[in-house]
Amino acid sequence: MTDANFPVPDAWAQNALIDKLAYSQKYDLSVSDPEAFWQEEAKRIDWIEPFHTVKDTSFNEADFHIRWFEGGKLNITANALDRHLETRGDQTAIIWEPDDPASEGRTITYRELHALVCRFANVLKAHQVKKGDRVTIYLPMVPEAVIAMLACARIGAVHSVVFAGFSPDALAGRIEDCQSNIVLTADEGLRGGKPIPLKANVDAALEKVAVDHVIVLKHTGADVPMVEGRDADWHGAAAEAADHCDAQVMDAEDPLFILYTSGSTGKPKGVLHTTGGYAVWTSMTHQYVFDYQPNPDGSMPVYWCAADVGWVTGHSYVAYAPLINGATQIMFEGVPNYPDHSRFWEIIDKHNVEIFYAAPTALRALMREGDDYVTRTSRKSLRLLGSVGEPINPEAWDWYHRVVGERRCPIVDTWWQTETGGAMITPLPGATDLKPGSASKPMFGVKPEIVDNDGTIQFGATEGPLVITDSWPGQMRTVYGDHDRFFQTYFSTFPGYYFTGDGCRRDDDGYYWITGRIDDVINVSGHRMGTAEVESALVAHPSVSEAAVVGMPHDIKGQGIYAYVTTNADVEGGDELRAELVKWVRKEIGPIATPDVVQFAPGLPKTRSGKIMRRILRKIAENDVGNLGDTSTLADPSVVDDLLANRAK
Ligand code: WT7
Repeated sequence: MTDANFPVPDAWAQNALIDKLAYSQKYDLSVSDPEAFWQEEAKRIDWIEPFHTVKDTSFNEADFHIRWFEGGKLNITANALDRHLETRGDQTAIIWEPDDPASEGRTITYRELHALVCRFANVLKAHQVKKGDRVTIYLPMVPEAVIAMLACARIGAVHSVVFAGFSPDALAGRIEDCQSNIVLTADEGLRGGKPIPLKANVDAALEKVAVDHVIVLKHTGADVPMVEGRDADWHGAAAEAADHCDAQVMDAEDPLFILYTSGSTGKPKGVLHTTGGYAVWTSMTHQYVFDYQPNPDGSMPVYWCAADVGWVTGHSYVAYAPLINGATQIMFEGVPNYPDHSRFWEIIDKHNVEIFYAAPTALRALMREGDDYVTRTSRKSLRLLGSVGEPINPEAWDWYHRVVGERRCPIVDTWWQTETGGAMITPLPGATDLKPGSASKPMFGVKPEIVDNDGTIQFGATEGPLVITDSWPGQMRTVYGDHDRFFQTYFSTFPGYYFTGDGCRRDDDGYYWITGRIDDVINVSGHRMGTAEVESALVAHPSVSEAAVVGMPHDIKGQGIYAYVTTNADVEGGDELRAELVKWVRKEIGPIATPDVVQFAPGLPKTRSGKIMRRILRKIAENDVGNLGDTSTLADPSVVDDLLANRAK
């Protein structure tokens, strides 16, 4: 069943923006003559001044640089807002659906959104924020999160959104790394009926790192302490601001945002995206992947990307691309299982959603609850389904296709990364026959290859590390504050190529199947986690001397977190310490890093040079203990016996 082929439905083949022929013609042009291809595609953006050079890039160490649309000047919010005012000022831009279905939602037109963004841009200015300054945003899924991001872009400030599920420590680290002097937050967030103490978290973070300004949105209305001289009320400040604000003229390569993401080593890195290439890339991929075009009656299809703005999916496919493309979109504050497991499908019915984009982890959790939660809703408006963030297993794909989409909706399984800005390997609904579990074919301008361990490109059906051999406009430009780390992380493993960190298989039809990370990054519920981060959180605990963390298979989360912990000599590991360590990691990083298993281990399997053999730890965590491979190079092979004997069930 994994290779079952679902042909493009006729209606899609006839009406989609890109059919099979268009795909192959456009793809060929995009890789044979990128200048010509992107010159044309860049027309989707209104440039204040035209660029003089489409592409100037090299992945080689000697002259490493990535520049797109040089000389071009633009403002991304002029593209997302101002240019729509004449034609779609009264069209709904955002339909906000609150956590509690009984609470009142909001609809915001393009004209209103424009005014709200301009007003808040003026608030930022009044708080001394200037072009190039970093602004930390720690907000729940409310329209103000998008308003804040766009307000930054309006004046050329660089936003750094920190997911509202991260702990005060994680927030402090990110504020410090990008030296931002202002934090935008809310009194509380609300998810599944539970308040999230955002302002209290900010206050705790600011005990470690000081900023001059905090702007606090009243959302739940909780009574939160305000620090005199530092904290300002969002609505109070906005009420005093004008609703006109000129859009800052930005160079194509001026920074747009920083978004922290986990790597295989050390602390999270600040992935930096710039303006021009990102605008072209995200709006183009959004248009083609979701076939985003007016309905026959002229209305714009209601589009819903269920990702949080704290992740890159929420940046590219909530905050920017849909607005650049004049979409009407849903923004949902809550969770899929509140008040019950029908919530997604009820929202789809309530707002006639045609295009729905979500993560496999949510689908797996809902699938487990039975079909009735789905089938008791109509979903007749749905035309297209999307998946993002992790491999979608064929069972979940089948359920999504058969039960949710009633076999009429193609599924676009989009592979990409924080670093890539937008979808890289993905079906297009009018052009690609689907194979469940395969992200299928490259997007225009993307040249994926599979290499062997020496970096030699492999042809035909094969499996190995996935690299991209040439630049694309939405590529990250640097790791904030550490350009050398950018080069080392992505371009040194296989010289001349961008290394994705993923393993991949290519089949006889040229379809790509992502097999998962092959570095020390794990994917927990579609959230990226560095095993090194969890380890350093664990060893920061006074009772822990050493820790090693690996991924383990998990039915819902895709991967769970399995931690091997060596305690200090005078400490006995037991249930109490185990519970404490779990709590500790949640506090250090956030609930998404909650270890699923903590196994106490008197010793870890190390080579004589002291390197932990993670391969063995992974096998034990995967319960694949029949085949541990060669353990003869271990300094003390007997530690493996102990690990096996005390393996967590
Ligand atoms: C990693 C990137 C895509 C934006 C949200 C996640 C995995 C992502 C897929 C997919 C298989 C996928 C990869 C990738 N991944 N999408 N459709 N099929 N794997 O961005 O947090 O930067 O994580 O997510 O392993 O490297 P991210």
